[in-house]
Amino acid sequence: MRTRVAIIGAGPAGLLLAHLLHQFGIESVVVEQHTRDHVAGRVRAGVLETVTVDLLARIGLDERLRKEGLVHTGTNISCDDETFRIDFADLTGGASVVVYGQSEVMADLNAAADSRGLDIRYGCDDVALHELDSDHPKVTFTRLGETERIDCDFVAGCDGYHGVSRASIPSHALQTFEKVYPFGWLGVLADVPPAADELIYASHDRGFALASMRSLTRSRYYIQCSLADRLEDWSDARFWDELTLRLGVHAGARVIRGPSFEKSIAPLRSFVAEPMRWGRLFLAGDAAHIVPPTGAKGLNLAATDVIMLAEALAEVILEGRTSGVDHYSARALARVWKAERFSWWFTKLTHRFPETSGIDRRLQAAELDYIRSSRAAQTVLAENYVGLPLTP
Ligand code: APR
Ligand code: PHB
Repeated sequence: MRTRVAIIGAGPAGLLLAHLLHQFGIESVVVEQHTRDHVAGRVRAGVLETVTVDLLARIGLDERLRKEGLVHTGTNISCDDETFRIDFADLTGGASVVVYGQSEVMADLNAAADSRGLDIRYGCDDVALHELDSDHPKVTFTRLGETERIDCDFVAGCDGYHGVSRASIPSHALQTFEKVYPFGWLGVLADVPPAADELIYASHDRGFALASMRSLTRSRYYIQCSLADRLEDWSDARFWDELTLRLGVHAGARVIRGPSFEKSIAPLRSFVAEPMRWGRLFLAGDAAHIVPPTGAKGLNLAATDVIMLAEALAEVILEGRTSGVDHYSARALARVWKAERFSWWFTKLTHRFPETSGIDRRLQAAELDYIRSSRAAQTVLAENYVGLPLTP
């Protein structure tokens, strides 16, 4: 079969792109390895920057988000037993973020994909990309025992860190940059009211902790853990005890305990692949870059890549101008690297590294104290957290 754009992966990047292209009147086919339930059910972060909210509005999918999303005009930072607030709205001229889980975003994208008749093929095995450096790229895969082939003009690699798209770029044409952090995040979901109205990022002598939420009745908490830890090592009781300690006396006292219904350990990584284009293949989202979750940039970066890619593809497909696709990689990477820098800095500031000695901890505490007392330092944090503007 033939289409304009073959999109590999039906995660947030792939589905957002399919919707945006549809709005431009451009046909696409999405090819996904797993089932829809598998993709939509993964528990991920839940903080949306204004650019991401605006994107959802642009594709007509912000109705439930406006009703159910929680607008946060600030966040809390805690160091041992001291907590202070970063007032985004005051520091950035009114910006805020919206707390709305990625699984909710996925539910909205999927429901609208059905009603708009988007072509999304789940359960595709052995996905392979061909002739990417020609004018006629192709995608092959097997589904329900049959081999299928899609001929297209462009391929969008939205298939995440482990996908086939980045791996299809010859190694001489790709440079990768990577940092693996020597700890993980143990995350817990529980149907209990959150400990505070806004998030709390806690840097404690025993390690990092984060108090987040999905709604006023569902809390999402994380604590830094060892990569050697197994889930069986962390009973709910042990998790709540450790979280409470790390959030400090005031916030810790407000934690409401309850049975967890999801518990997982995730590693932390910074990763960028350059360039984000090879011939007619364009990478977007986790396929091109990974950030550690401190700062919640993963989904937001995928959204901004997709805006830039959709605009570039529309320009070349509808108007025959190639400057957008030619500049896509450089334009996307300029924003990606700033989010990489922020996520790395925020991770370093708040986590306990195995080699952290007395001096490192004192330096962290001094930087946190500086941020607490300096409007200039708070402004730097706030404008990065709410999201840097999309540059032309
Ligand atoms: N063929 C087809 N699909 C594939 C293949 C493949 N070979 N490999 C992976 N996929 C699919 C995955 O099953 C997944 O559904 O690609 C999708 C990639 O989705 P994500 O990993 O979520 O990546 P992305 O859409 O870029 O999302 C970026 O959302 O999920 C979070 O942590 C992620 O915050 C980040 C943001
Ligand atoms: C989350 O709610 O899952 C979350 C929030 C903020 C982060 C990371 C994760 O920085």
